[in-house]
Amino acid sequence: MDLWHYEAKLPFSQKHLLTLQDWSGDEILQCLSLALRLKDMQKRGEKQTALAGKTLAMIFAKSSTRTRVSFEVGATQLGGTALFLSTSDIQLGRGEPISDTAQVLSRMVDGIMIRTFKQSDLEALAKYGSIPIINGLTDEFHPCQVLADLMTLYEKKGKLKGCKLAFVGDGNNMAHSLMIGCSKLGIDVAVASPDGYKPNPTYTAWAVANAAAHGSRVTVCTDPLEACRDADVLYTDVWASMGQEGEANVRLKAFEGYQINETCVDAAKPDCVFMHCLPAHRGEEVTAGVIDGPHSVIFDEAENRLHAQKAVMALLMGGAQ
Ligand code: CP
Ligand code: NVA
Repeated sequence: MDLWHYEAKLPFSQKHLLTLQDWSGDEILQCLSLALRLKDMQKRGEKQTALAGKTLAMIFAKSSTRTRVSFEVGATQLGGTALFLSTSDIQLGRGEPISDTAQVLSRMVDGIMIRTFKQSDLEALAKYGSIPIINGLTDEFHPCQVLADLMTLYEKKGKLKGCKLAFVGDGNNMAHSLMIGCSKLGIDVAVASPDGYKPNPTYTAWAVANAAAHGSRVTVCTDPLEACRDADVLYTDVWASMGQEGEANVRLKAFEGYQINETCVDAAKPDCVFMHCLPAHRGEEVTAGVIDGPHSVIFDEAENRLHAQKAVMALLMGGAQ
């Protein structure tokens, strides 16, 4: 299908982006199509005004490079403004209820992007506030990253449906969001994780059901090479996520053998791409040879955070331009 001409239907049918499970495959494609067009407009120097006069509040309870910069630059490129609010500075971090924070911010800004620990905090913001809430990463999900990854896959392969993505490593927020996003677009997903670190069975069940409805397959196994066989995309993420620093040594042992390396590349399709949300640990979840080698598209993914999130903001907070 030609994603370039897959027009977004306005007003957009979703208010929030809490998890991609809430969005239909059609809504995801509308967003990706707009992202491609916004990227093209930006490269050609065309003025964009979807967020003119609008403000995005960005709440961060965890560190960030890509998410912070891409949302802030993206809001500016769309004619709006973004406010960086660290929970170590705002009253939320000192115990002010999330319900009060949601209601106060709803009186002053036009949308909230939040990076935090619990998914239930996002749900509370959406429940008590009156403005769009965007998930900038929780312990459970990272939907904005997956939108950028799907956009990158389309740019590299010219298609989405029928591709196969292999995820090797921790069954974490990235694994969950990849399983959900890909399964809604007819992309096969094979996850390989050690026992004790497999994806949450509830989210796996969602993804399996999505895949059944969209003609693809989601599988979870223990053998990395089995997952990588004939894959179009090899994906991995850190073994210890933010908030798990204390488990780093235990995880280093548990994930031995769950590295994307040259053997995995040999098992995948010859023209496979390697993806990683970043930040990465070379020599742990991926070899330097792979992440810095010819299959790697990590910086295209990083750039596409900007364009994909501009599409999310335009659809949820503004008018698509
Ligand atoms: N991939 C990603 O979300 O990066 P940051 O942690 O730098 O935002
Ligand atoms: N799984 C990682 C992703 C970082 C973008 C984490 O949560 O730290």
